[in-house]
Amino acid sequence: TYVEKPAQDLAGRRVLISAGGTREPLDPVRFLGNRSSGKQGVALAEAARDRGASVTLVAANLEVAEPTGVSLTRVGSALELNQAMREAAGEADVIIMAAAVADYRPHSVREGKIKKQDVGDTLSLELVKNPDILAGLAQHRTPGQVIVGFAAETEADADRLLALGRDKIERKGCDFLVVNRVGWTQGFATDGNTILMLDHLGVIVQEASGSKISVANCILDVIA
Ligand code: CTP
Ligand code: CA
Repeated sequence: TYVEKPAQDLAGRRVLISAGGTREPLDPVRFLGNRSSGKQGVALAEAARDRGASVTLVAANLEVAEPTGVSLTRVGSALELNQAMREAAGEADVIIMAAAVADYRPHSVREGKIKKQDVGDTLSLELVKNPDILAGLAQHRTPGQVIVGFAAETEADADRLLALGRDKIERKGCDFLVVNRVGWTQGFATDGNTILMLDHLGVIVQEASGSKISVANCILDVIA
């Protein structure tokens, strides 16, 4: 079948995307993680590539196949993701933070495996806050750079979801925020997604529902 080549409306643009979920090491064999599969971020990378962009993907523990035709940097933890994003940010026209970043990491990483015998019946972990990567990138943005964040929320009420999104984009200082609802059976690791996109004033500029590749293209329509 003949498949039409998509419009090359991102030709020559350099797009930096983070995808997946970070893992925060606890000891040599364990980590604290989250349920992000990387599907939406990878779909964004593939869609941007197909629209002519030169894409750099910073991939944190993807559970989907790595895309071809993009420059790929693999990271594990939030601190590694932060470093990779900061190193690549200067050259990017567009930055999309689709990765699910752990908000906290274990205060110290044990040299050896944590043993039950040494711990007892309850184990308390001391966690420290990770840097806010998106807010940092927005703070150090280069002129004309477009910065897009994601907000995964479990809020079921549509009005309250919108209010959370508006609060969040103000805190982050990015240009657009893609808000999606997540839950036990929604958002993560699924093939479809439902999003709305806010601009920096909190105005809804896009709403999309469908496959992650079609949602990716709706997001890129706004960015383009
Ligand atoms: N993010 C980030 N660095 C962090 C935490 C989040 O860059 N340490 C980014 C995510 O990649 C996403 C956006 O910030 O693009 C929003 O993430 P989210 O977890 O929804 O927001 P938080 O600010 O962490 O607030 P909370 O989890 O408390 O709702
Ligand atoms: Ca968070």
